[in-house]
Amino acid sequence: MAIAPPCAVVIFGASGDLARRKLVPAIYDLVREGLCDDRTCFVGFSRTDMSDQQFRAEWRDAIAKFSRSRPIDEGVWKKLEARIYYARGEYGSADDYARLADMLPKLDEKHGTGGNRLYYLATPPGQFPVIIERLGEPGRRTAADAFARVIIEKPFGRDLASAQAMNQLLHRYFPEEQIFRIDHYLGKETVQNLLVMRFANSVFEPIWNYKYIDHVQITVAESLGVENRGGYYDRAGALRDIAQNHMLQLMALVAMEPPVALDALSIRDEKVKVYRSIRLIRPAAVKDFTVRGQYAAGAYDPQRTKAYLREKGVAADSRTETFAAVKLFVDNWRWSGMPFYLRTGKLLKEKLSEVVVRFRSPPLTLFQKQCQSPVYPNDLVIRVQPNEGISWRLNGKVPGGQMMIKPVALDFLYGTTFHREPPDAYERLIHDAMIGDQTLFIRADEAEAAWAVIDPIEKGWAEAMDTPEPYEPGSWGPKGAMRLIEIDGRRWMHTMDGVDEPIIACSL
Ligand code: BG6
Repeated sequence: MAIAPPCAVVIFGASGDLARRKLVPAIYDLVREGLCDDRTCFVGFSRTDMSDQQFRAEWRDAIAKFSRSRPIDEGVWKKLEARIYYARGEYGSADDYARLADMLPKLDEKHGTGGNRLYYLATPPGQFPVIIERLGEPGRRTAADAFARVIIEKPFGRDLASAQAMNQLLHRYFPEEQIFRIDHYLGKETVQNLLVMRFANSVFEPIWNYKYIDHVQITVAESLGVENRGGYYDRAGALRDIAQNHMLQLMALVAMEPPVALDALSIRDEKVKVYRSIRLIRPAAVKDFTVRGQYAAGAYDPQRTKAYLREKGVAADSRTETFAAVKLFVDNWRWSGMPFYLRTGKLLKEKLSEVVVRFRSPPLTLFQKQCQSPVYPNDLVIRVQPNEGISWRLNGKVPGGQMMIKPVALDFLYGTTFHREPPDAYERLIHDAMIGDQTLFIRADEAEAAWAVIDPIEKGWAEAMDTPEPYEPGSWGPKGAMRLIEIDGRRWMHTMDGVDEPIIACSL
């Protein structure tokens, strides 16, 4: 990867959890990998009172705890430390922004950042509008040949109308080429590998359609509960928090047509077409196509976990879902009539994000006739995390005189194939924003098209006024989620090792 040009990175929400756990370690790893120009400097802006020294100590602590390359490399840290600054400020205060605006040209001069700015909005979403307005004020612009880009974290709105309003506000001050709406799933190696797998290999394209694929399952399961984010989460829920962005992105990469080029414009054009082809679920039909659940109290090793309703920041009578499953159809030539099943939830059995492409059974029942039970269909499993990799599940003969069939996996594991840990998603994305590559960021129309899919479901749920189905912590979610897929004669796949599948005996 290229060394990014120098710039001043200003992080709003610099004392928050996201900055500490993700942004700071990613920046350190970029510096360590030599991908960040030695002149680039970093300014934290938030409401907490802190000196530069205290802020630097916070960064060091965050790197020591969360960087992927621990222990800290003292040489790298020394290089980085001298370029970290802190500006305390209220997000709405004109004076505080004026101080920041005074500070940045001085840093340009001291470090040689050339007036380039990368503003990272890592605050709670309620602060986005005021920050955007302040950044857009006349006089905040840099030199004509310098860039001023803004990275904006999710959630990007909470429905179509608010996403449109946010886009309008952003466009008042920044052209689309300078706006980087982040979805960290797009920075994950396996997610990017989806494009390589589909478009750098010729074997997939002929069978990548409803004629050969029976259905696609997308799972984003988490083993943790809402932790200390109850306040935010209770206003969002699983559908808005994960499905609207991460899961629809995964689905779009699986379903999209080959782009005319591997650039931001072409790839994002194709993703938007997928969203626009998704059959909208009428609010009155939500019961047939969706399921929502909420975790109850229960025993989840090694301790008992409390019910969602007892979490801090959550309303005692909340109807917010911590689990959502949805059946979607993409009404286009390639996917006509073939379902995509999506499910996501907190406090589930394990942390697992994967896409399962299940192929149709062989057309001729050669083996089926003589076997005790049906032969398993083939699966292609794209594991986003953990154990990033791709597996094909095929049927093989068990060695011996009898005809026994067992599913076996052909495995490609990142760890063992490339012998190196993939970079963290934020590393890739921050670097891309520094070099101005928008391919892995969400375009305005893309965010809106995804909300257009989600809005009618939210509306249907709100109108139904029912409570989400409770589920046991450590399970795979509510029973309704099993029914959603089993009613179609299918089932969710949990793991890919094949060991849970019995051997099928056949009498030939
Ligand atoms: C975030 C959600 O976007 O993704 C969180 O807001 C969730 O609720 C997180 O925990 C999951 O990300 P990952 O990378 O751990 O799968």
